[in-house]
Amino acid sequence: MTSQVRGVQLARLLGQWHALPGRRRSPDYAALAAAVRGLLADGRLPLGVRLPAERELAEALRVSRTTVTAAYRELRESGHLASRRGAGSWTMLPGTHRVASTGLWTPIDERDMIDLGVAALAAPPQLLAAARAATEDLPRYLGGAGYHPTGIIELREAVAHAYTERGLPTSPEQIMVTSGTQHALDLVLRLALSPGGGVLVESPTYPNALAALSARRARITTHGLATDGAGWDADLLLGSIRQARPKVAYLIPEFQNPTGHLMDTGLRERLVGAAHAAGTDLIVDESFVDLPLDGTLMPPPVATFDRHSRVISIGGMSKPYWGGLRIGWVRASAPQVQRLAAARVGVDMASPVLDQLLAVHLLAEAASIVTARRTQLVAQRDALVGALAERLPDWRVAVPRGGVTLWAELDGPISSALARAAEEVGVRLAPGPRFGLDGTLERFLRLPFTLPAADLVEAVGRLAAVRYDLDRTGRSQWREPSVIA
Ligand SMILES: Cc1ncc(COP(=O)(O)O)c(C=O)c1O
Repeated sequence: MTSQVRGVQLARLLGQWHALPGRRRSPDYAALAAAVRGLLADGRLPLGVRLPAERELAEALRVSRTTVTAAYRELRESGHLASRRGAGSWTMLPGTHRVASTGLWTPIDERDMIDLGVAALAAPPQLLAAARAATEDLPRYLGGAGYHPTGIIELREAVAHAYTERGLPTSPEQIMVTSGTQHALDLVLRLALSPGGGVLVESPTYPNALAALSARRARITTHGLATDGAGWDADLLLGSIRQARPKVAYLIPEFQNPTGHLMDTGLRERLVGAAHAAGTDLIVDESFVDLPLDGTLMPPPVATFDRHSRVISIGGMSKPYWGGLRIGWVRASAPQVQRLAAARVGVDMASPVLDQLLAVHLLAEAASIVTARRTQLVAQRDALVGALAERLPDWRVAVPRGGVTLWAELDGPISSALARAAEEVGVRLAPGPRFGLDGTLERFLRLPFTLPAADLVEAVGRLAAVRYDLDRTGRSQWREPSVIA
């Protein structure tokens, strides 16, 4: 983790802090303190990092040193900064915060917070019965030690079968079960990337993938997605791979998080060809592959076009089933799976047997569970899109054909400011810059449609109120923020 943030880095992260709506009535130091709290709140500024010295930050921001001194004092008073004379100031969170189930920092008192920071559904009703059935199966495994680094065979067979059904013949030897897709990504990166290795990602992309890449000290370059139309610009994407020859490219071709784009068949094929020519390994995150909506036809898996073991697919049960299962997987060549399993033994040994048995039961009911999920998501998406059209008509929204999120283009570079103001009225947001690297994307906001329709409509109503408030009146003080990580 970064232990120190330099003045220019913090200035870049802070972006247009001084131009935030509401600034007219709050002095510069308060606006600066609020902007730093906002960065902490959404995870862009990690905890425990040393902030730049006052003079350095003042120079980087082109403000007076007294402004920075006053902002740091306010951050100390609100519990966001700890300082020791001569040693500097470190970011921290007030004692009134905790880590939420999502891994995000949040105030202890949640009251009626509508959480749009998380893009995941509540568990399906079939889960309890599947858990009971799994317990009945357990005795079959109790005679052994219970460590299965690649996963229990029943689950690997079920996952391999699902790939084969999608038109990609797969054997259980090509599957390794992991504790979620995030875990799969981390393990694959351990194998595919050495520190400092180049990685190409989409922009915007899934923030926790960026976190996993930073943890491996990857040198990240981005491919910007268009907000509407196809998303990926084929020539630019392939050109970047050919020129930069990254060691790894991490892509989310199915209902990309956050934009919801679906990559077409032609680009999938060309992508694999370009990756092979450039010596790039493709990590394809298929988290949302089971969730096409409106009868959208799915293109073949990217790995279908792979002849040289260049494509490593990762996926899991969190989106169609439940995040609490912590079941994911890697699909790769059998030797790659063996290497991953060897690496995994030094990390977490294996995934829990009981959870894997539960997953087997859920996958056996995939057809009915996933169909119900899609129906639910269509209704929720349409409620969200309808509420946005009615209450925030200036926002531009491309309706996704699948997945669980939409990517709204706002009527100004206000995403972080809006997120802070929204906390005040009980709506948690993941602002646009969370999904990029360089503090841009302030014009965008990811909105998941995983909550019940009534909550989504209520949240949009609250957002519309604060949006117009931001224009009309300055706020003397932002309410204590929480962190989205
Ligand atoms: C693209 C993408 N990859 C990975 C994950 C993490 O999934 P899991 O809960 O299976 O670790 C998510 C969850 O939001 C995601 O959107």
